[in-house]
Amino acid sequence: MMNNRPTPDRVLQLINGYWVTGIIGVAAGCSLFTHLEDGAGTVVELAARAGISERGAQTLLDGLVSGGLVELYEGRYRNTPEASTYLVEGKPTSLSSFAELKLRQMGTLAGLPDVVRAGGPVTDPTTEVADNPHWEQVVPAIAAQSVPAATIAAEVIGLADAGEISILDVGGGSGIYSAIWLEANPAARSTQLDWAPINAIARRLLEERGMAERFTCIDGDFHTTDFGTAKYDVALYSHIAHQEGPEDNVEVFTRLRRSLKPGGALVICDYVVDDDRGGPTFPLIFASEMLLKSKKGNTWRRADYHGWLMKAGFGEVSFHPAEPATLVVAR
Ligand SMILES: C[S@@+](CC[C@H](N)C(=O)[O-])C[C@H]1O[C@@H](n2cnc3c(N)ncnc32)[C@H](O)[C@@H]1O
Repeated sequence: MMNNRPTPDRVLQLINGYWVTGIIGVAAGCSLFTHLEDGAGTVVELAARAGISERGAQTLLDGLVSGGLVELYEGRYRNTPEASTYLVEGKPTSLSSFAELKLRQMGTLAGLPDVVRAGGPVTDPTTEVADNPHWEQVVPAIAAQSVPAATIAAEVIGLADAGEISILDVGGGSGIYSAIWLEANPAARSTQLDWAPINAIARRLLEERGMAERFTCIDGDFHTTDFGTAKYDVALYSHIAHQEGPEDNVEVFTRLRRSLKPGGALVICDYVVDDDRGGPTFPLIFASEMLLKSKKGNTWRRADYHGWLMKAGFGEVSFHPAEPATLVVAR
């Protein structure tokens, strides 16, 4: 007879979740996914390709098989489709440098007990500090996360067929949205508002992709920089709302509404949680990152976005999946 007693398996895996952060971060650091992409291999072959010990290679591969990122086929290891798409260097969707960054940042978790007790960062609130060098590390590493969402957002708002439109990307970071959107619509122009060193990173990307003449940057703080009036057809606010408190989001949405031409659209991309905070899983757990790194940030509920956008003067709000993120489109 089966008994329904829970086993400790899942709890042990969750407690030891840092093992996975370590294994993926180190595997990315020694280009193991890229070597696997060049061809399936045995432990001995892969250790030689990656320039690591056989014992180390076996340990990484065991961990990656356990995590479902690498599989064994006729005695050789190969990437699963997920690893092939998201962890091989050089692919536009590659999260490989993000995996390395997360491993480097893992020590900050030691401060979590104090942060939880206090209800926010105790030593260095990163998102509120103007022009924080933190962003120079983060922005290139997270660019790939926005590739699928930017592509879906372009489809949702019919960007490719929108003609000569002007776009404002607030906190555009790497410039990845502008790169994807300007490629989808060769008549569009985009303006990114971010800190000066971050805009320099974005300018390089747009130059590399041959779209520099249609891309302008404004250096500054989006809390204080004027967005203008009836200037843009589309405004974008991607992965910013979670670092801000409710009042700040309403304030920025109000000024963004004013910056839009009649009929213009505000596109928000973020990790949005259900109204009862019962899911989805990734946005729920991402809230811990904002507790660690911002004074007022959180993963906000659909109802929060809806209410703030109405207060800001928008009349129509729709939600579209771009997993693990959600796109919120307001007109
Ligand atoms: C999480 S990244 C998002 C980048 C991009 N929008 C995306 O979704 O891939 C946050 C960006 O907002 C910028 N940022 C944060 N606070 C800012 C502020 N007060 N004024 C201007 N830019 C800011 C950071 O420099 C960084 O580029």
